[in-house]
Amino acid sequence: MMHKKMLILLAIICFLFVVVGTGLAEQKKGNEKKGKYLYRKNCRTCHIDGGSAMVLSPNTKTQAQWDRAFQKRERLKCADEWDKLSDKDIEDILSYLYNHAFDSPTPATCG
Ligand code: HEC
Repeated sequence: MMHKKMLILLAIICFLFVVVGTGLAEQKKGNEKKGKYLYRKNCRTCHIDGGSAMVLSPNTKTQAQWDRAFQKRERLKCADEWDKLSDKDIEDILSYLYNHAFDSPTPATCG
């Protein structure tokens, strides 16, 4: 029964790839739960359908794009809005957006 053994081996290899793959996925270590709350309170007010700015959700951008947007945040039109937040708040918001970005293992809309 060589065939069956091969199938089992293949299944194990697939399983390992999934485990290693999710384990290695880039994650920001901030408090993403708090980040989600802060995002809804401070950002989504404008960045929503019918709001004053483009719709933004975690899955609107890739992880690299979120990193870049946050690094250059003082150049954004809404930079003044960010000044109200602490560095920790901003880290939490980035964690939420980044960990659920378009190319993350768990992409999400803001809901
Ligand atoms: C008072 C309204 C307002 C608030 C609050 C606000 N923004 Fe903005 N944001 C804007 C406007 C206007 C722009 C310019 C582009 C546009 O019209 O969407 C912008 C641009 C951006 C961009 C660039 C979008 C792109 O891809 O070009 C990002 C990223 C962004 N905001 C994130 C945030 C985050 C994160 C917060 C909360 C910390 C936030 N914004 C709060 C109004 C706002």
